[in-house]
Amino acid sequence: MKKVTTVCLQDMKKRGEKIAVLTAYDALFARLEDQAGVDIILVGDSAAMVVAGGSSTLTATMEQMLYHVQCVSRGVQRALLVADMPFLSFQITPEQAVANAGRFLAEAGAEAVKLEGGRPIIEAVKRLVDVGIPVMGHLGLTPQSINKFGGWEVRAREKSEAKALLDDAKALQDAGAFAIVLEKIPSPLAAEVTRSITIPTIGIGSGPECDGQVLVNYDMLGLYEQFNLRFVRKYRRLAEEVGGAVKEYIRDVKNGSFPSADESYEK
Ligand code: KIV
Repeated sequence: MKKVTTVCLQDMKKRGEKIAVLTAYDALFARLEDQAGVDIILVGDSAAMVVAGGSSTLTATMEQMLYHVQCVSRGVQRALLVADMPFLSFQITPEQAVANAGRFLAEAGAEAVKLEGGRPIIEAVKRLVDVGIPVMGHLGLTPQSINKFGGWEVRAREKSEAKALLDDAKALQDAGAFAIVLEKIPSPLAAEVTRSITIPTIGIGSGPECDGQVLVNYDMLGLYEQFNLRFVRKYRRLAEEVGGAVKEYIRDVKNGSFPSADESYEK
């Protein structure tokens, strides 16, 4: 087992080895994913949706994210642990970004942070990297800007937005980011960004030519059924499994077959 670091990820891009990333929100799933060999575990602010049941990521708070990162860090040994910075925890000033990002490393065991946005947050990215906090960027369909976008459509289909995204990716690289998530942009644009920068791109709904891929763990396991997203490959249908198991349990309790003598204590 070799611990994954930001340096390893650069080497993987150079070697052409794809980077596998999943989200996790608790120690149990983090341990399973880590032991299976995932390269990066991202504690996404998607927690506000898939764990807390909200309709966007905007309600995630620093305290909630710190709790999830603390839980996940207890389950991770090999993967790089990245904490997602919640809405308004880094956009106000670079000092605010350093203070909040520092908490993820000092109090919760994260090894890097992820920030949504490009040039408007570049001073924060530079300050974080300067003080030793590795930064993962996030461009394209950035869910914290969902109210500005007005929906979950593919981003950067227009030439001007595509050019701005490419410029943002280069600015993030120049500011010292170690990787960039590209969410829901056309595959040819993701391929162009991937070729144009030396740091790895991690795609989600952005085609096969990114240096790595990320999915929300509950999506790819078929546990979160609120959305049916074209870019999510469902490797299992665990919602059906869980529903079936719960129904069997209810049946056994109602008909008295659970617990059996073997599942009980005589003294
Ligand atoms: O919050 C999240 O889970 C994310 C990934 C889907 C990239 O940002």
